Amino acid sequence: MSDAPRTGHNYDGIEEYDNPLPGWWKWLFIGTIAFSPFYWVYYHSGVAGRSVEDQYGVALAAATRLQFAEIGDLQPDTETIARYMHKDNWVRVGHSVFQANCISCHGREGEGQIGPNLTDEHFKNITTLADIATVINKGAGNGAMPAWANRLHPNEIVLVSAYVASLRGKDLSGPRGPEGRNIAPWPEPPPEPEEDADQDAAEQDS
Ligand code: HEC
Repeated sequence: MSDAPRTGHNYDGIEEYDNPLPGWWKWLFIGTIAFSPFYWVYYHSGVAGRSVEDQYGVALAAATRLQFAEIGDLQPDTETIARYMHKDNWVRVGHSVFQANCISCHGREGEGQIGPNLTDEHFKNITTLADIATVINKGAGNGAMPAWANRLHPNEIVLVSAYVASLRGKDLSGPRGPEGRNIAPWPEPPPEPEEDADQDAAEQDS
């Protein structure tokens, strides 16, 4: 038996060494506990843009801007939006633009908050797909909906419009009831132009 100090506890002849944790270890432990509420409040209190997921969305959007060379300059018209709302990989880019800029007013899934529900069949300022891009570019409701023309890349406007268009019909319930008119369904996507079809085929191969 070693001479190390004992606690004096004796359980049926089994003794206990008195080896306290080192002071530096205990203080590190207490330090992490003291730190944790601040960490938790900062990252997990639901403030948009702070969670790892939100930051990933922002980083993804930035990385995607680099790919815009591939699609050229998109026109904010009905035909282009109708085409892009059926391209999942580009709708995902619109989704990340939405997460980075729009959820504070329209809710995480577009269910509405300060701004109207974008998942139902009713719209205030919109009758065509192109109107979505116009509202996002120029704003609406005397600035209650901000104008994004100077803050987002024109392609991001088209892609976030495609994402918003894709939300229609999900009918998520939000804090606001239906607003505006029940509008005609979105048009079918236009047929792919030849060179685009080739490009998509090339992407599939690579
Ligand atoms: C500061 C809050 C706010 C932010 C941020 C915001 N919106 Fe809005 N949005 C509104 C409000 C309020 C309206 C309703 C305007 C009105 O009353 O006509 C609106 C309207 C809209 C509409 C038209 C809905 C309809 O029924 O006519 C679309 C589409 C839209 N927003 C998309 C977006 C997108 C995309 C973003 C992010 C790029 C965004 N909004 C960011 C507040 C906001």
